[in-house]
Amino acid sequence: MEEELLRLQKEACRDLAALQDLKDLEPFRVQYLGRKSEFTGLMRKLGQVAAEERPRLGKLANDIKVDLEERFATRKTELEEAARLEASGISTVDLTLPGRTFPIGRLHPVTQVMEEICAIFEGMGFGVAEGPDVETDFYNFEALNIPKHHPARDMHDTFYINESLLLRTHTSPMQARIMENRQPPLRMIAPGKVYRCDSDITHTPMFHQVEGFLVDRKVSFADLRGVLGVFIARMFDERTAMRARPSFFPFTEPSAEIDIACVICRGKGCRVCKQTGWLEILGAGMIDPEVFKQVGYDPEEYSGFAFGLGVERIAMLKYGINDIRLYYENDLRFLSQF
Ligand code: DAH
Repeated sequence: MEEELLRLQKEACRDLAALQDLKDLEPFRVQYLGRKSEFTGLMRKLGQVAAEERPRLGKLANDIKVDLEERFATRKTELEEAARLEASGISTVDLTLPGRTFPIGRLHPVTQVMEEICAIFEGMGFGVAEGPDVETDFYNFEALNIPKHHPARDMHDTFYINESLLLRTHTSPMQARIMENRQPPLRMIAPGKVYRCDSDITHTPMFHQVEGFLVDRKVSFADLRGVLGVFIARMFDERTAMRARPSFFPFTEPSAEIDIACVICRGKGCRVCKQTGWLEILGAGMIDPEVFKQVGYDPEEYSGFAFGLGVERIAMLKYGINDIRLYYENDLRFLSQF
């Protein structure tokens, strides 16, 4: 008896779930809950069950009956609602629900600024070239007038791979690589990763530079100032003052460091510019005749300027970021602001 009751309950639930149409409701009710149903028949037989079993089985049968009636009522409401909606022409799909969104990624802030820098120089007619991160000692130093044992090599904390191979410490080797394969006039920039064994709030062991240079007849320091002035106006804004401070690089003569008026205090003096009113943004100069000789250009005929800038530094100044390591921690709260 118990087994039969449970079997009937299971079958009824299965059939009810499969019901798809209002007109199927009545046959279901007759089959499972009607006066002539198998279930009702079983209820009647309860009288013949042993007296001590009767209360338990009676309760079970009753519980199943109540449960089936409830399920039947719920299914009925559902089907009636669906029929009503269909009749009124309203779709059962709720069009007011928000759609599923797929999170999209975005370019890293350093990549964005790098692309912006390249676009500005491309707008002035510069071509773009990329070179190897694993560089030879020759291109990284020798060809740039930095011979072995030259004290200028101390400026770079170099990651050496072996005696003649290293991770480039700057993008300047691209000057020699490009010049030895082409003839002037030349206007090129070379963006890419560079590596130095250095790590604190303003240094990471890997960072990005954009190298630029221009070679032609009668190129002067004024041309360098003109090109960099346009770059600074477009990267920051028209009113950003710049100045050239004498400096030294083995591959340029004369050499300069280029400062811009502090973007935070506009030159008045603040913590960021250490009260000087100026921020250093890049190194530059007139290409040294020794570099021209290395690549077979006649220094009497040609002159040129070169510059190298740090992308992370420019991005830090542009966005007021005070710790360079933020770029490489992959914290989405930081990255998604760009
Ligand atoms: N290569 C230099 C550095 O990494 C930057 C630099 C300075 C590049 C002067 C130049 C330049 O082309 O003319 O510190």
